[in-house]
Amino acid sequence: MPKASLVSIAAYAPAKILTNLDLEKMVETSDEWITKRTGIKQRRIAQDEDTSDLGTKAARLAIERANLRAKDIDAVICATISPDHFCMPSTACKIAKNLDINSVTAFDISAACTGFIYLLELAKSLIESGSKKNILIIGAEKLSKIVDWADRTTCILFGDGAGAAVVSADSKNEIIDVHTAADGNYAELLITPGGEEKFIKMSGNEVFKVAVQTLTKDVVEILERNKIPSDKIDLFVPHQANLRIIEAVKQRLNFSDEQCVVTVGKYGNTSSASIPMAMNDAYEAGRLKNGDLILLDAFGGGFTWGSALLKFGGESYKR
Ligand code: COA
Repeated sequence: MPKASLVSIAAYAPAKILTNLDLEKMVETSDEWITKRTGIKQRRIAQDEDTSDLGTKAARLAIERANLRAKDIDAVICATISPDHFCMPSTACKIAKNLDINSVTAFDISAACTGFIYLLELAKSLIESGSKKNILIIGAEKLSKIVDWADRTTCILFGDGAGAAVVSADSKNEIIDVHTAADGNYAELLITPGGEEKFIKMSGNEVFKVAVQTLTKDVVEILERNKIPSDKIDLFVPHQANLRIIEAVKQRLNFSDEQCVVTVGKYGNTSSASIPMAMNDAYEAGRLKNGDLILLDAFGGGFTWGSALLKFGGESYKR
């Protein structure tokens, strides 16, 4: 059976920065409140670009870093909750078109902030079944179009961006284990109701409590199942929703600052793009090298959640 390996990581963040001070002028809030409750200082906002444009830029770089050409890609899968179009075409189809990748499998998935973990599980299965060889996975979000900019309880949290990776058949640094799950009983706590109500609605406090418990349990279970102690992890990359959630999980698992990647302060919560954007930050800072053991975890609307354990199969970053 072929093994699946994550052979590159890349990201794209739109240029416009929206700071907490900017938000103070839009809703009744303060930099102090946002920083203390979330750790977020700023987020990126896409202006003339849609979700597929953000995804295309990250994807192009991911293919280049995998030392491949667009024609080598045989599937394009995009996780998003803010697609270009309501039903069709999928954002993946538009990204594939922009990259000149035609006549290959292309589709979107919807798993909110856990999107990238779901993508990894899908890509791993498609490679290990022998059905595909090089899969482009993308988490891309223009959340600014589904955020209610008059609702101070949610608009301070989210940002736009994209992250992408290539998963290829390669046995050297494999994706060791991926776990995904969902419980629709919690659907109402984090929702875009639809119809006239197209914006994100969230019961922040309740989401917070379930997120900390679920993430901790999921990470403990994947480490135990694979008999890997937490001090053997080179890089822990949690979903970037709230610094307090990250700190709570980090402390319970005893991860050090050196092990943990935190980018929520500069990007906010970019949903499915958050983990690959954080991985890319670590990669470009020289913190993620070929063969490093990485642990990912995520939690989001649905509720959905998941974790992944993998060795990084890409080349170490060259400036
Ligand atoms: N600025 C100032 N005050 C604000 C505010 C803002 N932006 N947003 C809410 N408040 C107020 C509330 O109205 C409330 O006031 P009250 O006590 O007079 O009623 C008070 O601050 C406390 O609100 P609460 O919602 O209890 O705050 P919190 O400590 O739970 O923090 C979140 C709010 C959203 C930051 C926090 O619940 C959270 O991060 N939840 C998880 C979110 C998340 O990760 N979602 C995505 C999962 S993928």
